[in-house]
Amino acid sequence: MKQKEYILIIGALGQIGRELTDELRERYGKENVLAADIRPKEDVSFEKHPYIQLNVMDKVGLENLIAENKFTQIYHLAAMLSASGERNPQAAWALNMESLLSILDLSVKYKVEKVFWPSSIAIFGPDSVKQNCPQQGVTEPTTIYGISKAAGEYWCKYYFEKHGLDVRSVRYPGLISYTGAPGGGTTDYAVDIFHSAVKGEKYTCFLKKDTALPMMYMHDAIRATLELMEAPAEFLSVRTAYNLSALSFTPKEIYEEIAKEVPGFEIEYVPDFRQQIADSWPQSIDDSVASKDWGWKPAFDLEKMVKDMLQNIEVYP
Ligand code: SER
Repeated sequence: MKQKEYILIIGALGQIGRELTDELRERYGKENVLAADIRPKEDVSFEKHPYIQLNVMDKVGLENLIAENKFTQIYHLAAMLSASGERNPQAAWALNMESLLSILDLSVKYKVEKVFWPSSIAIFGPDSVKQNCPQQGVTEPTTIYGISKAAGEYWCKYYFEKHGLDVRSVRYPGLISYTGAPGGGTTDYAVDIFHSAVKGEKYTCFLKKDTALPMMYMHDAIRATLELMEAPAEFLSVRTAYNLSALSFTPKEIYEEIAKEVPGFEIEYVPDFRQQIADSWPQSIDDSVASKDWGWKPAFDLEKMVKDMLQNIEVYP
């Protein structure tokens, strides 16, 4: 008889982790999903328990945790994103790569059945196809974050092929959510803009008004993650990471959509170093392989997402 699931989420207090933890607990039961993050237990609200403080770079602590628990699945979400990574390339590389390699290794050693690790549109670079960027083609990332994600994808494929580890991944676009704040990404403007709008403040955007980027509402991102993780292994033809697509918009377009709901909302554009990162990425993504293999289909368009965000957003403390 198959044992029931016992799931570990590393990076459970991050932008994706918060919502993924809640959704996994809905599906598998609260006690069967252990949330782990670097913050001390005392700082974490009771609703997020069961919770354990974990620094994923602590190899001994990580191994002890995995050795002592029979996890059937691990979601490894801890990472340094594109903009923060450019401020501290060595630390970004160390965190993003070493932690992935530890998880892959320990998952084989302790027979974890499935692993999820997120990749990103940041694996693409200036020579990648700009519109409907295909699953396969030129990547050549220019940020340390993108380089670590591109390398990580190949490590995942390698562990699948050499060790039979069922590790699955998607290339998330910019993610927009109302619960957790994003941390140090180039696409974060599309979350920050909502916070300014609901506080009645003018928003200063760090990208130019016509910079189109691939984006996705968190509800779609969580659903995509779980649909991929629940798909039969034999359906999956991609063992690097799946292209995933939902929306593509510019700062001006999202501003105009928000301004329809928040009359008088104002924006100014003051591009900084993140403009160059954004310019290196595709503007839209072709996710036809994900739809073919496991039926991926986004549900939120820009208008629906903006309305939902404004109804649910909690202002940053
Ligand atoms: N949202 C990420 C970033 O901007 C891309 O995956 O870094």
